[in-house]
Amino acid sequence: MKGNYTFTIIKPCAVQSGHIGAILGDIADAGFRVAALKFVRLNKKEAQEFYKIHEERPFYGELVDFMTSGPIVVAVLEKEGAVEGFRSLIGSTNPKEAAPDTIRAKYAESIGRNAIHGSDSDDNAKIEASFFFSRNEIFNSEGGFVENLN
Ligand code: TYD
Repeated sequence: MKGNYTFTIIKPCAVQSGHIGAILGDIADAGFRVAALKFVRLNKKEAQEFYKIHEERPFYGELVDFMTSGPIVVAVLEKEGAVEGFRSLIGSTNPKEAAPDTIRAKYAESIGRNAIHGSDSDDNAKIEASFFFSRNEIFNSEGGFVENLN
């Protein structure tokens, strides 16, 4: 069964360019409810850990430098089939290949500075959400704590 939660990051380039409000607006218009939200800045160690899966890729160093270059907005979002739906909303990794009207088509500058992150599986959504949020920082639609991000 597909889960109801995904995790996102509005990346430093989009924050710096003043797109936080517009991106959160697009996310809300697409039917996602914000379950958790914060404004943070990663240090190098945290960014290395978050992107550890890409450790061997040639772009890893640049990715870590970029993700630590300024503040980011992190959020947990709720919608039925959230992971898949959100990946469609943000578009392809490379903005040149992203479908029109996707968040990356609208706000990404390049494949590296591509405005937004979206988890690629339910398992990763859980892992990534818990990297940034503790149990008492993720809320259900009634304002109670989310016990399990399924
Ligand atoms: P990846 O997980 O492949 O893409 P996505 O974010 O769409 O799930 O890559 C993670 C991030 O790494 C990507 O958002 C931007 C960066 N990246 C590069 O800088 N260069 C590249 O060639 C690739 C594939 C990714």
